[in-house]
Parts: sequence; C-alpha cells; structure tokens
Amino acid sequence: MSDKKKILTGLQPTGSITLGNYIGAIKQVVKYQEMYDSYIFIADLHAITIPQDPVQLKENIRSLLNIYVACGIDPNKNKIFVQSDNEYHCNISWLLECNTYYGELSRMTQFKDKSKKNQNFTSGLLTYPVLMAADILTYDVDYVPVGGDQKQHVELARDIAERFNNKFGETFKMSEPLISKEGTKIMDLQDPTKKMSKSAENKKGVILLLDDVEVIRKKIMSATTDSEMSVKYDPENKPGISNLLNIYISLTGKTIEEAEEQFAGSNYGEFKKEVANVVIKEVSKIQAKYNELVQTNAIEEILNNGRDYVVPIAKQKYELMKQKMGLGR
Ligand code: AMP
Ligand code: TRP
Repeated sequence: MSDKKKILTGLQPTGSITLGNYIGAIKQVVKYQEMYDSYIFIADLHAITIPQDPVQLKENIRSLLNIYVACGIDPNKNKIFVQSDNEYHCNISWLLECNTYYGELSRMTQFKDKSKKNQNFTSGLLTYPVLMAADILTYDVDYVPVGGDQKQHVELARDIAERFNNKFGETFKMSEPLISKEGTKIMDLQDPTKKMSKSAENKKGVILLLDDVEVIRKKIMSATTDSEMSVKYDPENKPGISNLLNIYISLTGKTIEEAEEQFAGSNYGEFKKEVANVVIKEVSKIQAKYNELVQTNAIEEILNNGRDYVVPIAKQKYELMKQKMGLGR
C-alpha cells in the first residue's frame, strides 16, 4: 500500500475537449498524478440525469477516455474506470439516499438551476449529489479536486458521511474538496472577453484538441488582437494578445516576462505564427497518441484493470454498510 494521499475525481462525458479544458483542467490532473494516489472515472451515470442519446453517449465515453490517456493521464498512476462498470456505486447510493433529507437535496444550487430550466426533470437530477457522495465515500479519499460549482456537492458528501458515522459507527472518511486556485482561463480567440467554450456558436474562436492542425493554425492566425504593435501582457486593454500569451506560456513553461522579451521586436503575425507552432506541436503529439489508442483498443485493458481494482473495494464498503444498517439475512 502506498502512503500517498488519495484523490478522486469524476468527469462527465460531454463531447469535444477544447484547448481551454486541456490547459485549465487536464494538465492539472496530470500534475496531481505525481503527488497522489489518483482515482479518475467517467461519470456516465451522472450524465444520464439529463437526457442523452445512447449512441452519442457511448461514443463520448470512449473518445473522452482515449483523449485523457493521450493527454498524459497515466493508467499506471491512476485507477481509471467507468462509473457504471462498478455497480456498487448505485447500491451504496441507495443506502446513502435513505440517510439524506429531501430538503438538503432540493436546496442544492445546481438542482435549483437545472430543474428551473426543464419542467419535466427526473428524480435523478435531485438525487445526483447522493450518487456523487457514493463515488467519493466508497474509496475513503482525502481530496476531491473539483471546480467551484461542485464544491457544495462535496460538502454535502461530508454531511452525509458524518451523519452516517454518528448513527451507525465509523464507516466513512471525511473527504475535502480541492479547489484549484483560479487557473489560467483560456479565452475565445474571436471574442477574447469570453471563455473558450465548446458550446460557443462561432467555432472559429475555439480550438478543439481533435481539430485538424491546419485548421488550428488558421484559427490562431485570425485571432482577434488590437491596433497596437506590442506583444505585452495586459488582459484589460489587450485581451487578445494576453490570451495568446497565456496559451504560449502554458504550453512552453516560460514566464510572461520571458515571453514578452522574446517577442519584443516581433509583429503580431510573427508572434501568432510562433503561438500556432507551439500549439500544433503539443496537439500533434496528443493526436498521434489518440489515433494510436483508437486503433489498438488499449483502453479496454486499462478499463478492465481499473474496474478490477475498484470493484472489490466498493463491495467491501457496501457489505460494511449493510452490516451496520442491519440489512440482509
Ligand atoms: P467544462 O467543459 O465547462 O465542463 O469544464 C471542464 C473543466 O475544464 C473545468 O475544470 C473547467 O474549469 C475547465 N475549463 C473549461 N473551459 C476552460 C477554459 N476556457 N480555460 C480554462 N479552463 C477551462
Ligand atoms: N458532478 C461532477 C461534475 O459534473 C462529476 C462527478 C461525479 C464527480 N462524481 C464525482 C466529481 C465525484 C468529483 C467526485 O463535474
């Protein structure tokens, strides 16, 4: 057994990955895998709390897993699995549901937002945070890296754990949310005051990791800049140039000062060309790995290993809960 602290995070299988996701989220996970005993799973059971097309969902799950591995999430350093491959998550979730109040769930911000948008929301949308608590509490993890919008759910998992421990005796570890400091936010290349997002209407400002590299070059070369002539970091007055600088330093590891100095005499065309080269170099590596993974079906073995590792742990937790609650024969 390793004495490293444990982290766990779930990712919803929701389609195309952008350069923003890569720089803002995936690179973080790649960093964490060096420090922590990491569990990472595709939260397909969470995805169906809103309607999904079955064919599309299956495709998203596989493609996302291949992208993550291609981006450097290492199957030897992470337990990588698909949530629905471990049926104990749902079993544990039910036992936890019977120890969670309707009032708590109906007060969750995300539930309030999403249920307002759709009159016919499912009960899964309401109980979603309990399933998330099951994901977390099953593995006695120390930290749960999530975005700010999920913090409330991790706190609810703590409340549920504490209540269960008090009622039935010590069963769960209290996990803490790990909210990364405001990381680099990559902006839309066409409108650099907006976050780069896969749901943007105009795709010219959004780089997808699986975009053809020549398309990427065009997108960067036609990025919005300003009427000055200096490559300087000034997000307020020069959002376009500052965004390109952010992309550049995130991928090269240079500092802003080093980059400013490097491009001191350059015009915007030269600067963009260099940014495009750096992005293409990184993305090409990812795409090559991705194409290789897709062909070899390596993901099968990775997921089988992940499942075989996590199922016995979850079974043990489930049996412990049943015993504490007086369930079964
Ligand atoms: P989303 O695609 O919005 O569900 O976000 C998934 C993860 O990627 C979250 O951790 C976000 O913080 C991160 N992310 C999404 N878009 C960007 C962006 N433009 N810049 C930096 N991080 C981002
Ligand atoms: N709800 C999370 C999201 O939408 C995904 C998720 C499901 C998760 N289970 C989790 C994240 C457990 C962390 C831990 O982003």
